[in-house]
Amino acid sequence: MIKRESKLFKIEKDSNFASRILILSLPSSLVFIMLVALRLLPANIAVMAYSSIVLFNIVWLFPLTFELQQLKKYIINLSQENQEKLEDLDITESETLDIANAINEMHRFWSNKAETLEAQTISDTAVLDTLPDPILMIDKEGNILGANGSAHKLLGENITEKNVEEIFNSNNFINAVAKVLHQDSDAENLIFYVGNESKKQDKQKKLYAHIKRLPWISKGRAVAVISIYDMTKAMKVEKMQSDFVANASHELRTPLSIISGFIETLQTSAKDDPEAQKHFLKIMAEQANYMSILIENLLSLSRIELNQDNPPEEKIVINPIIEDAVDALTLKAKDKKMTFEINIDESVPEITADQSQIRQLLQNLCDNAIKYGDEDTAIKINVNLSNKVPHSKTYQVGEGNAVAISINNQGMPIGNEELGRLTERFYRVQAHKDKNIRGTGLGLAIAKHILIRHKGNMRVTSNKEEGTTFTIFIPVEQL
Ligand SMILES: Nc1ncnc2c1ncn2[C@@H]1O[C@H](COP(=O)(O)OP(=O)(O)OP(=O)(O)O)[C@@H](O)[C@H]1O
Ligand SMILES: [Mg+2]
Repeated sequence: MIKRESKLFKIEKDSNFASRILILSLPSSLVFIMLVALRLLPANIAVMAYSSIVLFNIVWLFPLTFELQQLKKYIINLSQENQEKLEDLDITESETLDIANAINEMHRFWSNKAETLEAQTISDTAVLDTLPDPILMIDKEGNILGANGSAHKLLGENITEKNVEEIFNSNNFINAVAKVLHQDSDAENLIFYVGNESKKQDKQKKLYAHIKRLPWISKGRAVAVISIYDMTKAMKVEKMQSDFVANASHELRTPLSIISGFIETLQTSAKDDPEAQKHFLKIMAEQANYMSILIENLLSLSRIELNQDNPPEEKIVINPIIEDAVDALTLKAKDKKMTFEINIDESVPEITADQSQIRQLLQNLCDNAIKYGDEDTAIKINVNLSNKVPHSKTYQVGEGNAVAISINNQGMPIGNEELGRLTERFYRVQAHKDKNIRGTGLGLAIAKHILIRHKGNMRVTSNKEEGTTFTIFIPVEQL
């Protein structure tokens, strides 16, 4: 009884408990009034009987109202994700208990479903985010509903809920999207450019898009999916290749046209002039020699590139290779009264490398030091152990200790803006071209690719006081 009283106070005011009791007791009150009016029942007995009916109603209705309120609170708690235990409720009536159990089961079922769906969505998003190509989902107005990581990277972080028209300034693309959204086509493929139109075409991004309408069974807001492929990188590679072919052809055509010109001269005006013939044949031999060096360098570059992903496995000692490279160039150095000063740190260990490629690399650098160094000076070669290969922005360098070989020559310093371009194929410093110093412009490109294969790197410094120093770093181990 005490418990019931305490519960009574727990019933909320807005439960209409009192009005329900009154409404429930109203018919019996009318009956008692009539009986008293017809003098069939004394008024005091009627009041007592009526009071006991009201009391009965209170006792009978109270638990139900109380438990319904508990149930209401429980459902509200569930809907607000507050995990209240069913056992903590004060529910004893079997009907309310059944309802509470049923609600509990339903909640558990939908919670599990929601969790599975959430996990599925997270894993789907993770999968989409790992795709290298941008993907967008759009609604029937062309608003972006979702985008994967690559799309955000390409188009910006806040693209969701924006319209495709705001993001892509290409009429062809927008027309293709409209065609798919208006159901004029199931799918559209196109290549288009984005970016500032005032910029040159090679500064804009070249994109390939596949726009596909989703099947009608898709119940979400998404109506179509756009997958994009960024062709800018592929285009750059294509351009590099075509530039390379154009440069190589140009470099070959020049000596060839000189040789053809002299052949014609020898056949006509110089036919009977032995002095001129001797002079022209000498030039022709030089040009033919240049052509064969150029072809040899081109073949060498392509062989190194072909082999670039095969790490070298030989164990080699640096000392004899440096001596070999220097010996091969002694005569050339003598012609310019130049000498080599070699200083090797004895602690330099054996390294894992390709012997013939390292010799070629050192020979190219020493050849440059002679060619571009001042007459009557010394070329200094230093070999040390370094604790790491300097970082490269374009490829992964090797880890651990490295052998650092620096080759220094005195001479006209290389300008800062030119330093970064020295390893480009066919790039030559204008001042050297003007001075008529012969070269194919491939020696350092070959050196760079040999270093990439060895996961090594190169640093160049050049100034008036210390001259020009090329330092190459080759990892001791190919890990
Ligand atoms: N030690 C150096 N001092 C000054 N400039 C240099 C030095 N080494 C290279 N260069 C510059 O870098 C350019 C590119 O060098 P690279 O070795 O690739 O080509 P090259 O020497 O012209 O031709 P080759 O293919 O015959 O070696 C050279 O033309 C020269 O202008
Ligand atoms: Mg060279």
